[in-house]
Amino acid sequence: HETKESVTYDVRTQMGETQIKKGEKTKTLGYNGHLLGPVIKIKKGQDVTIKTENTLNKNTSFHWHGLKTDDNADGSPHQLVAPNSSETISFKADQEASTLWFHPHPEGETASQVYQGLAGLMYVEDENSDNLSLPDIYGKDDIPLIVQDRYFDSNNQIDYEKSYRSDGTQGDTLMINGTINPYLDVTTRWMRYRLVNGSNATNFTFSLDGQVPFYQVASDGGFLNKATEKEELILSPGERAEILVDTTKSLDEDKLNLLVDDKIALKMNLKPDKKSKSIDITQKLNRIPDINKNDTQKLPRQTIDLKGMSHMVNINGEIFDMNKINMTKKLNSKEVWEVNNISNMMGGMIHPFHVHGVQFRVLSRNGEEPPLNESGWKDTILVNPDEQVEILVSFDKKGIFMYHCHILEHEEYGMMGQLEVI
Ligand code: C2O
Ligand code: CU
Ligand code: CU
Repeated sequence: HETKESVTYDVRTQMGETQIKKGEKTKTLGYNGHLLGPVIKIKKGQDVTIKTENTLNKNTSFHWHGLKTDDNADGSPHQLVAPNSSETISFKADQEASTLWFHPHPEGETASQVYQGLAGLMYVEDENSDNLSLPDIYGKDDIPLIVQDRYFDSNNQIDYEKSYRSDGTQGDTLMINGTINPYLDVTTRWMRYRLVNGSNATNFTFSLDGQVPFYQVASDGGFLNKATEKEELILSPGERAEILVDTTKSLDEDKLNLLVDDKIALKMNLKPDKKSKSIDITQKLNRIPDINKNDTQKLPRQTIDLKGMSHMVNINGEIFDMNKINMTKKLNSKEVWEVNNISNMMGGMIHPFHVHGVQFRVLSRNGEEPPLNESGWKDTILVNPDEQVEILVSFDKKGIFMYHCHILEHEEYGMMGQLEVI
């Protein structure tokens, strides 16, 4: 059901059981299956229709994280899909090639539904991505990696209530694409990993065995202008990055494992074909415009104060109210948002700040130029305690959009607001 101009998908929530660990199966939730979900592939300019269906016994919603769309397709807490019912949404794919993801967003249930397994991917492609020379064979040299942490109880169950923490429910077991101790047979010289931090609350630090450098080519909302070399990359909940790995740089003949927090997260069995596609790592990947400092100084400013911990969190002193619009923004008008992470005497914690319906730019971190890998399009930004991050925001879709901390338990405690674009 795909033509150049249009594409149709069915996405259905399901309850099921998955063999994650040895022994008892784990009760899980998934889209079109029992755990996680499909990759929805759309192309810039296409008319996209998605029939969403909810077979759970609770309300859900289908939020396309990072998608630029009018609010009626955003899947916010306002667009609930009741048990055993379905809703069809449609929108025009109106943004550049990027790795987006989707997850539920019903008020009060987002954190538990994600924790139990609801998350999927949405790839946007465009003319630029068609023409770039990058690894692009799904499952072979272009690999999605949804990284999450979970607790399993003695019966192998993921029990959200028992694992619950008010500052974010974490886990001692790392899963990639729903698998514990995953491995990958690497048959090409260059590998592309689409990293997604799909955890409720955990920041992950990615690196390669032996601190072999890799190249970040994309951030949340699309390609960077140029690949940037890194030995380490931190993603907070909701953030994505695409990296390229040159497997010939392996220090040890047969391993170049992906590490998360210095532990092996993905074992790579290296059998690269020496004649496989070679990649020019210096190629121009995108045409993101430079930001003119003099221009941004004149723009209207919006303060976003992220405050508190556990159940005492808020944004600008306000907690989420379904019936309250916290700010109004004009269509296509640029603003500088000062996102402040305000710690208190009890200390502080990282808040990943996310805005719906938009891709923004990072202007500064604590007054300094942002690092190269934050110079592209972002929809979620890690803000450290006592830090100020300035972002350049301009909405080109109309409606009511959420902005919130992507620690899902903070979001549930009201660390979320609504803005209306008019
Ligand atoms: Cu990924 Cu409002 O969230
Ligand atoms: Cu979102
Ligand atoms: Cu938070």
